[in-house]
Amino acid sequence: MNIIKIKDNSNKLYFIGGIVRDELLGLKSFDIDITYVGNAMEYCSKFGEVIRKNPDFGTIRVNVDGQEADFASTRFETYPRKGHLPVVEKIGCSLKEDVMRRDFTINALAKSVTTGEIIDFTGGLEDLKNKKLRVLHDESFIDDPTRIIRGLKFRIRFGFELEEHTKNLQREYLANINRDMSYKRIKKELIETFNLNSQKGFEIFINEGIYKLVTPNEVKLPKVNIEELLNLYKVKNIWLVYVGVLGDLSSLPLTKVEQKILNDVPKKVMKSDFELYKAFENANTESVLLYGILYDERGAKRYLDKLRFIKTKITGNDLANLGINPSPEYGKIFDAVLKEKLKNPEISYDEEKSIVREIMSNKKS
Ligand code: CTP
Repeated sequence: MNIIKIKDNSNKLYFIGGIVRDELLGLKSFDIDITYVGNAMEYCSKFGEVIRKNPDFGTIRVNVDGQEADFASTRFETYPRKGHLPVVEKIGCSLKEDVMRRDFTINALAKSVTTGEIIDFTGGLEDLKNKKLRVLHDESFIDDPTRIIRGLKFRIRFGFELEEHTKNLQREYLANINRDMSYKRIKKELIETFNLNSQKGFEIFINEGIYKLVTPNEVKLPKVNIEELLNLYKVKNIWLVYVGVLGDLSSLPLTKVEQKILNDVPKKVMKSDFELYKAFENANTESVLLYGILYDERGAKRYLDKLRFIKTKITGNDLANLGINPSPEYGKIFDAVLKEKLKNPEISYDEEKSIVREIMSNKKS
């Protein structure tokens, strides 16, 4: 658990969710979540400087001795629109009601701030011990399909397994998927899941059909080991190299950079070094890796290991000095020099100029 000291004798404050789970697993947690049985916005501002409040959810973020903690009011929620954000029905409900709105039993544990006692309404301790992920009720994935990806995330992160009934519920949901859902939340979970860079996780994603949450198209597991590839070539958007394999990501709210990465993946095998170079000279490494996974691993590696470091030196000024008037012809000349340089990267600046002279004299003759 993160070291945070809160003096409170109310016995109404509980560490809740991931932070309790992580402490029991001996892991460091990134968020400090505390729930208050009652109205947290009124009660918890005394613990330090208030950073922000969200009255809709009854939550308040407070800086407690240099550490930010999220205090939430216990709340009871329903899902009138399945797959979308829940609606808060009651703020200040019992701890049990608050716990029962959660995803898996291992995330439904509470620890009293006052006494340190662990409160386990759902069998979370037993499931933690047995490394099982168990939903709290049969409607859980229908209410919130992002939980299926969260389940995958926890399987990868902790090496846990879905408990049998939960596995069946996942299978049933994916066979009768309702595509009207919040893709913003799906994207967030995909990022957290696949930034863990796990080939095994990706295989589960494809083999169990979890990818159906993103696209209606059938997807097969590519032969390339994506984890190994990503260990060779570091990229910023690890998750997109995995999820981009699905091809159709139109359901997800992508940023311009993410969309460009997908658009820059050629749809066929590039036949020469020159074609490879031209396809990727303005592309992100993610696009090259996706091309490698989908079409041509050797070509992608060749580009990343060798071709991308080859640069011609001649400039437009050089061409002008050689008496060539600026025109669209410049592009063709640069490409011709590039083709030679890709064949022989040792070509010097002077030799590049000789190539240009040769091109021009061949033209004249
Ligand atoms: N939760 C849920 N359903 C979701 C998202 C969250 O029931 N779709 C609940 C879980 O009890 C979870 C808590 O809200 O423990 C906090 O959510 P979040 O911070 O996203 O998850 P953590 O469990 O803290 O996991 P992480 O370590 O990845 O932050």
